[in-house]
This record gives sequence, C-alpha cells and structure tokens, in this order.
Amino acid sequence: MKTRFDEIIVEENQIRSRISELAAQISADYQGKDPLLVCVLKGAVFFMADLAREITVPCELDFMAVSSYGSATDSSGVVRILKDLDANIEGRNVMIVEDIIDSGLTLSYLRKNLHARNPASVEVCSLLTKPSRRKVDIACKYVGFEVPDKFVVGFGLDYMEKYRNLRFIAVLPEEDS
Ligand code: IMP
Ligand code: MG
Repeated sequence: MKTRFDEIIVEENQIRSRISELAAQISADYQGKDPLLVCVLKGAVFFMADLAREITVPCELDFMAVSSYGSATDSSGVVRILKDLDANIEGRNVMIVEDIIDSGLTLSYLRKNLHARNPASVEVCSLLTKPSRRKVDIACKYVGFEVPDKFVVGFGLDYMEKYRNLRFIAVLPEEDS
C-alpha cells in the first residue's frame, strides 16, 4: 500500500509519539477538570481513539458529525450538523478533537455553536494544521503537525471517503486528483 504514496508527510511512529506528547500536555492541563473530548466525525476517529487512550485524567467521549458544503477538497464555511452531541455540555470543559484545520471555517462555526451552550471552556486539539490556507483566525491550543498546502490523506483523513485507514499521512497521489 505504502508504495503508492510518493510523498509521506508524517510516518506512523511520528504520529504515535506526537500523540503521546499531546496527551501528556492535556493530562497536565486538565487535572481535576474531567474534559469532554468531542470527536468531529469521521476524520478524527483514529486520532481521538489514540489520544484518549493516552490521556491519564478521567475524561468522557462524545461525537459530532458536520457537513461542510463545498467541493471534495475545499470547504465553504456553510456547516450543517448531521449528528449532534449526546451530552449536555453546560459547565463542562470541552475539547474539540479535529483531524485538520484548513481554512478554519468548519472549526470556527463549531466553536461558536458549542460556546452558545455555556460550557466552562472550549479548546481545540487538531492532529494537523495547514496555516497557509487559513481564512479565519482560529485559536488551536494543541496541534500535532503543520503540513504544507497540499491535500493530504491517511490516519482518518479522506479523499472521497478513501484512504482513512492508512497508518501514515501522505500527499494524495496525482492519479487520484
Ligand atoms: P476547513 O473548514 O477548511 O478548515 O476544513 C476542515 C475539514 O476539511 C477537515 O475537517 C477535513 O475533513 C477537510 N480537509 C481539509 N483539508 C484536508 C486535506 O488536506 N485532506 C483531507 N481532508 C481535508
Ligand atoms: Mg473530510
């Protein structure tokens, strides 16, 4: 499988060790705060599963699915909630767990939406960020890796629902785009 990908951006072992570092940081910052980790489906599933298992403070998991109108590779900022949280987040310390921040439009909408429910705090933990593509400024306290302005797949990230199950993160092969 790996041979199809010429440009591997982040290797499996790098992802694993970065997730351990992020989890250690979160565990230290959230002592006694019982964070609620909110996974943004589907891209963040593997990241959240690995991150949550490395976090050493009590935490809870919840899931949200949103659809952002746009093309296969660009989001429009118009976001629709397909699956809402099960939990009432009033007074909770919420951590949005995302796969990638690209334009920042999806996250900016999500943040506002969750803030309106009166949580104690809302922070963001994203596996990847593409700062060169940002359209709105978004504060993200915990970031795994910065990636260049290329469409990447793997470790949860897809191109037309493919490649989510790769153990590494690679640039989308030319023949697919
Ligand atoms: P934003 O609203 O532009 O920040 O887009 C965020 C969403 O677009 C992410 O949660 C991903 O699902 C998707 N996305 C953005 N860039 C990439 C990429 O390089 N590969 C795969 N999905 C991406
Ligand atoms: Mg996607």
